[in-house]
Amino acid sequence: MSHYQLGHEDQELARLELQSRVYRPLTEALLRDAGLRPGMRVLDVGCGVGDVSFLIAELVGPKGKVVGIDSAERPLEWARQRALKQGLSQVEFIHAAMESFSSSQPFDAVVGRLVLAHQPDPLAFLRRMGEHLVPGGVLVCHEMDFSSCPMAHPSIPLFDRMHEWLLGLEKLLPLRIRMGQELVGLMRQAGFKVEGCRYEGPVGAHVEDDVEVLRVVTEGTRTLMPHVVRLGLATAAEMDIDTLEQRVRDEARASGGMFIPFMMGGAWTRRPAAT
Ligand SMILES: C[S@@+](CC[C@H](N)C(=O)[O-])C[C@H]1O[C@@H](n2cnc3c(N)ncnc32)[C@H](O)[C@@H]1O
Repeated sequence: MSHYQLGHEDQELARLELQSRVYRPLTEALLRDAGLRPGMRVLDVGCGVGDVSFLIAELVGPKGKVVGIDSAERPLEWARQRALKQGLSQVEFIHAAMESFSSSQPFDAVVGRLVLAHQPDPLAFLRRMGEHLVPGGVLVCHEMDFSSCPMAHPSIPLFDRMHEWLLGLEKLLPLRIRMGQELVGLMRQAGFKVEGCRYEGPVGAHVEDDVEVLRVVTEGTRTLMPHVVRLGLATAAEMDIDTLEQRVRDEARASGGMFIPFMMGGAWTRRPAAT
C-alpha cells in the first residue's frame, strides 16, 4: 500500500518538474561530490517524472545506465515521454515500489531524492536501497528541510505564515519535514558509514528573476492545501491559493532583501568493498 500523500495529478507532476529546475544545481553538486561518473549503472528510487534520472544520465554518459523506479505508473508515463524527446536511450523507467523491486544486476550507485521523507519506515527504506549496491557502491539521498526556513531579511510575513501551515503538517502525514537535516543521523542508524554531506538552499534576491524559487513553495502549498485545511491550520479563504504566489511576490518585492524558502540536505555513504 502506498503512503504517498502528494498524488499524481497533472498539476502535481508539473510541480515536480518546476521544483526540479530549482533543485538541479544543488542535486548536481551532491551527485558529483558523491562520485557519480561516466559509465556507472545507477538506480533512481522514486524517480517521479524523471528529472533526477535525466541529470544522472548526463553524469554517467551514453556508456552508463540509469534505471528509474516509481511505485506510481502515471509519473512514469511522463518520464518515458520526456526521455524519448531528449533521445536518452540509457534511461529506463520501471513501475515498481522500492520494497518489492528486484534486479538481476546490482548498481554502482543508488540515488533517492525527496522519497525518504514520504516513507513510514525510512530506516528500513534506506537499508533496502543499500541492498541494491555492488560492494563499494555509493548510496546518495537528497531531502528537503523546511523546518529551519524561511530565512528572509527583511522578513516576508506571508512566508512566515506559510511556514506555520507546513510545520503543522508534521502531525498528519508520514511526511518528515526535517528529513534534510535528519539524513546523516538516519544513515548512521541504518548502519552506514557516512562519507559526506551538503546542506544548502536556493537563494532568491531579485524577485523578477526568482519567480520559480517562490513558485516552488506556493505550488507545494497548493498540493498540501487539502491537508492544511482539513487539519484546521488555515482556512481556504485565508490561503486563497490562486492569489498566494502574487501576494508572496508583492511582499518579497516590498521587503527588498534576500530569502531562502527551504533547505536541501544531502548525504552519501558507501557499501563496504568486498574483502
Ligand atoms: C516527491 S516525488 C520526487 C520525485 C523525484 N525523485 C524528484 O526529486 O523530482 C516522490 C516520488 O516517489 C514515489 N514513491 C513514494 N514511495 C515510493 C516507494 N516506496 N517506492 C517507489 N517510489 C515511491 C512517488 O510515487 C513519487 O513519484
